[in-house]
Amino acid sequence: MSDNKKFFITTFGCQMNEHDSEIISGMLIEKGYELAKERKDANIVIFNTCSIRENADKRFFGTLGQLKKRKMAERENFTVCVCGCMMQQQHIIDTIKEKYPWVDVIFGTHNVHELPILLDNLYKEKHKQLSIWPEGAEIVEGLPTERLFKHKAFVNIMFGCNNFCTYCIVPYTRGRERSRKPEDIVREVKNLVKDGVKEVTLLGQNVNSYKGEHDNGELCDFADLIYLLNDIDGLERIRFMTSHPKDLSDKLIGAFKDCAKLCHYVHLPVQSGSSKVLKEMNRKYTREKYLDLVKKLREIDPEIAISTDIIVGFPGETEEEFEETLSLCKEVRYDSAFTFLYSIRKGTPAENFKDQINEDVKHNRFNRLVEVINDISQEKNKEYVGKTLKVLVEGPSKTNSKTFSGRTETFKLVNFKGDSSMTGEIVNVKITDCNTFSLEGQVV
Ligand code: SAH
Ligand code: SF4
Ligand code: F3S
Repeated sequence: MSDNKKFFITTFGCQMNEHDSEIISGMLIEKGYELAKERKDANIVIFNTCSIRENADKRFFGTLGQLKKRKMAERENFTVCVCGCMMQQQHIIDTIKEKYPWVDVIFGTHNVHELPILLDNLYKEKHKQLSIWPEGAEIVEGLPTERLFKHKAFVNIMFGCNNFCTYCIVPYTRGRERSRKPEDIVREVKNLVKDGVKEVTLLGQNVNSYKGEHDNGELCDFADLIYLLNDIDGLERIRFMTSHPKDLSDKLIGAFKDCAKLCHYVHLPVQSGSSKVLKEMNRKYTREKYLDLVKKLREIDPEIAISTDIIVGFPGETEEEFEETLSLCKEVRYDSAFTFLYSIRKGTPAENFKDQINEDVKHNRFNRLVEVINDISQEKNKEYVGKTLKVLVEGPSKTNSKTFSGRTETFKLVNFKGDSSMTGEIVNVKITDCNTFSLEGQVV
């Protein structure tokens, strides 16, 4: 092994990638490497990439390019590794080989567990390492993790995606759906609780299609899994990401009533308010079906907060169809929404759809949508003023050591005056004021 043992990871993309980075850290620390505070202090830098939109690709290549000078100067004393969703695409690998030939290690989303071996091989054999498995690799259990937070944790319950929404690259970068065994998930969560974790976020591209198999061969669906986890002593909160509307079952909706630990919050990406656009997107639900789900969720759990993802400017989206998205937002009244400009992804069906929307039109629609979304978020936040809410404290803010922040069960960010003894605890906070993206309060 090289003497240079400090590493730094830059993560792009979603919680899946964040969690993969926690695993990479865990494995390297176990092997005796040390996590550097900043990239400049590290001799091994790792980029965990995302390919969801063109911007994500560009940001990665931009940052990678900046390292060339250092690599040329330090040579084998400086190691550059790249991984994540971008590496699952041949055209990206080709670009790296051609334009960034000084990258030392390339590994794919199914090969995360191999990094320590790849580094050993790199230092021993003194030549570049590439490990990309197409897909279908076995699930590797028991990998160590170095968590970002002491009191909350991500837990993968499944990998991959079978849905092939026509705009989306994920099914090509993460492969087909594979679910972990419920026993393995329960064991992991129990261990996390022993280690001080109060809140788990169950991760999958579509957790609603989780299909675990018990040791005795019986099937365990996503709702069954929630009920199992709800029984774990010491665990306080359960969240999940992401939930596809086409598979949101009545049984799961029922869990919001039955399972006290399941937070009053659901992220339910709608993508568009037009049934025609939804069909073109291959989302497999209609506007009416979606609105019906929202109604059922609110009937069962009147406190529930709902957030969503929306794409504007999907190929062929007309002004009227876009207005259907605006009207749906006004009808649902989302607590928050992530809004995206449609971005062409190589190899997806929508890449070849006619009537790609011009950038000016996309931006105009985007701005109108954000205005509607933000007005509603602000109004929704106003409803919390005067209420006392349970907040899981995350820690002090980066800019002011006396201001602490945390999340309510409904995933609202709350800022308040606190002290370090509160970090990781659930405290009662009375809400005194609100902004578009956060609440202000006082501990009571
Ligand atoms: N599996 C999740 C989504 C993961 S990707 C789900 O189906 O809900 C997160 C979000 O990125 C998507 O919900 C979508 O809104 C957005 N997105 C995906 N591909 C995109 C593209 N090509 N252009 C713009 N936004 C995109
Ligand atoms: Fe992409 Fe659709 Fe799968 Fe989500 S469900 S990851 S949007 S293909
Ligand atoms: Fe990006 Fe891959 Fe996640 S493309 S959004 S990091 S699954």
